[in-house]
Amino acid sequence: MLSPEAVLSPRVSAAIERAFGPDFQDADPVLRPSQYADVQVNAALALAQRLGLRPREVAERIVVHLEVDDVCDRVEVSGPGFLNLTIGDGWVSAQTTAMAADPRLGVPVEDALTVPIDYSAPNVAKEMHVGHLRTTVVGDALARTLEHLGHRVVRQNHIGDWGTPFGMLLEHLLEVGEESPEARLVETDPNAFYQAARTRFDADEAFATRARARVVALQAGDPHSLEVWRRLVGLSKHYFNAIYARLGISLADDDLAGESTYDDDLAAVCDELTQAGIAVESEGALCVFLDGYTGREGRPQPLIIRKSDGGYGYATSDLATVRHRVRTLGADRMLYVIGAPQALHLEMVWATARKAGWLPPEVETVHVRIGNVLGDDRKILRTRSGAPLRLMALLDEAVAAARAVLDEHRPELDEATRTAVAPQVAMAAVKYADLSVAHDSEYVFDLARMVAPTGNTGPYIQYATARIRSIFRNAGVHPDDATTAVPVDVVEPAERVLALALLELGPVVTAVGLHLEPHRLCGYLFGLAQAFSQFYEHCPVLKAEDERVRASRLALCATTLRVLVTGLDLLGIEAPERM
Ligand code: ARG
Repeated sequence: MLSPEAVLSPRVSAAIERAFGPDFQDADPVLRPSQYADVQVNAALALAQRLGLRPREVAERIVVHLEVDDVCDRVEVSGPGFLNLTIGDGWVSAQTTAMAADPRLGVPVEDALTVPIDYSAPNVAKEMHVGHLRTTVVGDALARTLEHLGHRVVRQNHIGDWGTPFGMLLEHLLEVGEESPEARLVETDPNAFYQAARTRFDADEAFATRARARVVALQAGDPHSLEVWRRLVGLSKHYFNAIYARLGISLADDDLAGESTYDDDLAAVCDELTQAGIAVESEGALCVFLDGYTGREGRPQPLIIRKSDGGYGYATSDLATVRHRVRTLGADRMLYVIGAPQALHLEMVWATARKAGWLPPEVETVHVRIGNVLGDDRKILRTRSGAPLRLMALLDEAVAAARAVLDEHRPELDEATRTAVAPQVAMAAVKYADLSVAHDSEYVFDLARMVAPTGNTGPYIQYATARIRSIFRNAGVHPDDATTAVPVDVVEPAERVLALALLELGPVVTAVGLHLEPHRLCGYLFGLAQAFSQFYEHCPVLKAEDERVRASRLALCATTLRVLVTGLDLLGIEAPERM
């Protein structure tokens, strides 16, 4: 099955070529949604100047060569030279029938690329903040979508598990004892653990000295230090996994590829860059200076790959990620789903890697920039006391808010169902709020708005699916049995709007994969849920008089349900059976 744009675009292109010759073979047909018809073609306006003709004349000539009788009911030239195309109900019905029978619902399978996706990446023994929440949620949606499109996605959770703070953290863990309640904080309230270690480090000179010696021992591969480090990372993993489980994030332990995994590569990274003349010593540090990167006062901005004390940093391990993802993982396209403020860092890392020949030109790198999550005061979200927010506590709050909404709006649901559904609604609310705005823009974290059962929210779309399921329960039919072999016959305007919306799933999912923008899918699902609501208001389904009309409408309901559930699944959101 095809979407209107997919069928019409090549037809208009062919008409343009027939009308104006092979020079116009690649002219963009410029298809847009229309206020007056289903599709508006704006090509005539774009081509008029090149042809030296009036746009209206260009449009009329295109019409002469346009072959769309099987698709369109009406073709009109309007205004200065727009072409308005109205799709025939027969075509819409046939495509929707085909879609209902298609297991992929018209989502194409693309030529498989290998796509490592770097996302989530929290830090060991530190709280995951809402920024990490957002890269986790957006990265996961992209991973699911690209996989669905047929790509080989390699999840890379680049956790911060190496570096100077580990001396202090390990010493503190040794001091409090690995089995102590203080050690358990790493799993439950990591910042409290981190803060305690920090306080000790600042107050106690002897402790600080031991902490410094501990980093050196750790980096040198001292077995005991490594053992304690492994223990600490293990505790943190429990914390991360608890968050991932609550949120339904598809990251597993096998996806961990933290900074420490690159430790053995760092010396080679520095050596190779030095030998190639790309890295130079500057004030005791090993630096890369790239053309066009200047810092304050116009001084060249270095990418420091070895500090003056001999330690390696964030940039060095990120250079190693590039090498690893290209050489070992065989990346065709690499995504780094990371906070927008790290744009300069990534650009410099990639530019350095390109210079070194580690990043061939055909490998695409994309920084999927994650914008800030703000509080009511429009500053980075924190607790009322100003402390960083505990993500677990935030998720608890979301569950309570979702529960309150269910209690208020769905009192007829039994207690057990409301208890079971509240977390699903809460996670949908939080995730959808992250996903439905452009990932690089800021947004205000407002739980009341997120859990609302109306408006552009996760719960609204979940609710649409539950409503459709209840139609099938009342009909005593399983949705899967409603779509096979029943021709969809689109007659009423609301049926037509719904059917045309359904046909857009494929193009939307393709666009999400191409532009890496899950908010396009959110906007689509919201529009579809609204179209369904209109349809359901105007077109009786179970009470339809004619048996064929009833079957056709049930097939529309079933297809809508599958599209909504599939779309939510690509976003990593569950659709409760009842709510
Ligand atoms: N751990 C880092 C942070 O919390 C994010 C790491 C992102 N990934 C990367 N390859 N640099 O900010």
